[in-house]
Amino acid sequence: MMYSRMAGTGSYLPEKVVTNADLEKTVDTTDEWIRSRTGIERRHIAADDETSSSLAEHAARRALRSAGLTVDDVDFIVVGTTTPDRIFPNTGTLLQERLGIHGCPSFALETACSGFIYALSVADKYVRLGEAKCALVVGVECLSRITDWSDRGTCVLFGDGAGAVVLTPSVEAGIINTHLHSDGRYKDLLYYPYGVSDGFDKLKAGAPAGITMQGNDVFKVAVRTLSRLVDETLAKNGIDKHQIDWLVPHQANLRIIRSAAEKLDMPMEKVIVTVQDHGNTSAASIPLALDTAVRDGRIRRGQLLLMETFGGGFTWGSALVRF
Ligand code: UT7
Repeated sequence: MMYSRMAGTGSYLPEKVVTNADLEKTVDTTDEWIRSRTGIERRHIAADDETSSSLAEHAARRALRSAGLTVDDVDFIVVGTTTPDRIFPNTGTLLQERLGIHGCPSFALETACSGFIYALSVADKYVRLGEAKCALVVGVECLSRITDWSDRGTCVLFGDGAGAVVLTPSVEAGIINTHLHSDGRYKDLLYYPYGVSDGFDKLKAGAPAGITMQGNDVFKVAVRTLSRLVDETLAKNGIDKHQIDWLVPHQANLRIIRSAAEKLDMPMEKVIVTVQDHGNTSAASIPLALDTAVRDGRIRRGQLLLMETFGGGFTWGSALVRF
């Protein structure tokens, strides 16, 4: 049996930082409200000349360097993003071009905050089947571009960034398995209102556009769903919750992260939390958190990681990983 393993990790955050104090000056909010309801203290915002593919390029190059590999080794690229540079070509192919790679399959998938876990799941299958030997998996967002900066209910939540991993074949796990889910009945609780075949005319006419969310309803479903997801992942793998070394959750809200940790009977010292520094970076949040903890030495080779995510759609999923 062949597995894929994470041979390297990388991430990138734009230079510009917007603090809660900065937002106090532009919308009717307070640092105290944002911290106590979300755990967020600051977020990074892409510069005008940065795009999802440019953020992804930095993260991808860093992940390749940490794996001891080069762009010439890459034979598969998948990018999870909700904020593509262009409607087409897809952001995976734009990243491929930036890296100077030509010919290998490259594509992007769009499952909101679950983008990285979905991308990881797809790439894992290709590597396991022997159809890819060096897969680049990226989660990236420029959410600032679709944020309504006058809406205090959402603008305090989101940030920009990118995270990447390199998957290579291994006889030992690696990615033990992934569990993906979605349910479109919740499509109106968290969404961006304009697309191509629906609402493009309004977008062209300059209608105010921003991420739209029934925050409190999303919160309740997220907590319930993530709890079920954790049970499912543990049961399907026949492992006890105490065997997990690190929880690497999607970083949307510290209160949601805490409830997942409680479910696992896990002290917060064993949970990777970056939401205070990054805000909610959607598809980028898990690989950003992972890379942060790998680089600061907390996550080490051989440890067992549980990654779990929840986002618009709704989509949700987990990955159990022997790092
Ligand atoms: O990443 C994908 C999944 N997304 C999530 O998981 C997000 C899930 N939702 C959440 O994280 C939380 O629901 C929020 C952080 C978005 C909101 O927290 P909440 O505790 O659910 O607050 P709320 O929406 O119930 O609003 C409470 C109050 C309201 O005022 P009233 O009606 O009680 O007078 C809001 O108008 O807080 C008000 N409010 C704010 N006040 C100050 C909303 N946003 C702000 C703000 N500053 N930025």
